[in-house]
Amino acid sequence: MTDSSEKFVAAIDQGTTSSRCIVFNQDGAIVAVDQREHRQIFPKPGWVEHDATEIWSKVQAVVAGAVAKAGLRADQLSALGITNQRETTVLWDRSTGKPVHNAVVWQDTRTSALCADLGGTDGQDRFRERTGLPLASYFSGPKAAWLLDNVPGLRVRAERGDIAFGTIDSWLIWNLTGGTDGGVHVTDVTNAGRTMLMNLDTLQWDVSILAAMNVPEAVLPEIRSSAEVYGTAVGQLAGVPVASALGDQQAAVFGQACYDTGTAKNTYGTGSFLLLNTGNRPVPSKHGLLTTVGYKIGGEAPVYCLEGSIAVTGALVQWFRDQLGIIRTADEIEPLAASVDDNGGAYVVPAFSGLYAPYWRSDARGVVTGLTRYVTKAHLARAVLEATSWQTREVVDAMYQDSGVRITTLKVDGGMTKNHLLMQHQADVLDVPVIRPRVAETTCLGAAYAAGLATGVWHDLDELKAHWQRDAEWTPRMGAQERDREYRNWRKAVERSFGWHE
Ligand code: G3P
Repeated sequence: MTDSSEKFVAAIDQGTTSSRCIVFNQDGAIVAVDQREHRQIFPKPGWVEHDATEIWSKVQAVVAGAVAKAGLRADQLSALGITNQRETTVLWDRSTGKPVHNAVVWQDTRTSALCADLGGTDGQDRFRERTGLPLASYFSGPKAAWLLDNVPGLRVRAERGDIAFGTIDSWLIWNLTGGTDGGVHVTDVTNAGRTMLMNLDTLQWDVSILAAMNVPEAVLPEIRSSAEVYGTAVGQLAGVPVASALGDQQAAVFGQACYDTGTAKNTYGTGSFLLLNTGNRPVPSKHGLLTTVGYKIGGEAPVYCLEGSIAVTGALVQWFRDQLGIIRTADEIEPLAASVDDNGGAYVVPAFSGLYAPYWRSDARGVVTGLTRYVTKAHLARAVLEATSWQTREVVDAMYQDSGVRITTLKVDGGMTKNHLLMQHQADVLDVPVIRPRVAETTCLGAAYAAGLATGVWHDLDELKAHWQRDAEWTPRMGAQERDREYRNWRKAVERSFGWHE
């Protein structure tokens, strides 16, 4: 039984491999969780798609599951927040509500050539000053342009206003608030900022970039803040205000209470994303990081971040499990890696979608280096885990070069943070303590916090900060000599991954 004055907020985290709904109480503690995976569709090497209709039905199922497990009725929820895999692009027909093609996932590399063409003589940084992003297949604007050019007849329908574009936040909010029956077509600044179509200073669509990319304005959602009531849910959550949207990495910043300039977090999921709060002004990057909106609470000033995006970390463990079959479950990697003392000289660079930060090389492909007959599957397991911490080290170095901020501790979250061997190696190679909070579901928590702020469940950031509690800490143990030698080897392996595919 629940106390009738107690307030609850639900958050949907629609991620790359699964959808999850978590119900939180007013202390920011988890009351109930439900989660379901969806299909990964790989039509060609480098292409990754999702079925947006399947995603919508999985989201409905996890919402029902979490609310039922919490023993609540929809009318007991004060608000619903949304957080999502970013950049994944959906185009749908406004009158039927049906997607016109599978969603093109953020990892998909099909727009590499289009991005190179768009760069022209200005190169990869043509739109960087206005958008904070280099031209790369990662971002959603070029994905939308590709769909408009490649789905027969789509461009004409889009120009007539019959087609809607959205990242997954837009797709879910539109469906939650009524779909073809009056659904609202909005996105938030953190998601819009990943299209490469939004101006970072005005937080509005940039008409000259729309023209350059040939994306008609008629398809675009309205850009709103990350915490405000966009509309009211219909269906199973009828009457619940839909009150936040944040890209999943920005939601984790919010859930980790990184509200002060200079605070940072790293989330270990399919990929890993390290974001540093740089305050109310965007900081340009010269060292391969992204400048991105961290969050914007209602009418308050936006908070910006520098981001180091790493495309493949957890996904490498999945590949080791599913494609190579060396382990049966992801959890088996830790005991296997721990059965040897080191990597035996082996390094794995998981450039499956090219390399993102700090390199942005679409011609990179995965490599395994340093093999001798001595190397066993246990050494490879270790090298697979170490690939995550070395990629993070490269991003932390770039962050220091760009911002002058030297991270003194790293707040971490996400699935891989339960792997002690990895977290110890992360502390070792960064030479700073790594700290995990008690609520490791910071992505959902951040979306819940933003929705609760918009609806008066919580009042200010200080109240949210007071919820944050430390759960585990790893302190550096590796000597400087070993760290430097291993880093040199890692960098040599990275060099070998370049020049395979344009
Ligand atoms: O930018 C991609 C990122 O949002 C994906 O996050 O957790 O679904 O791998 P995740």
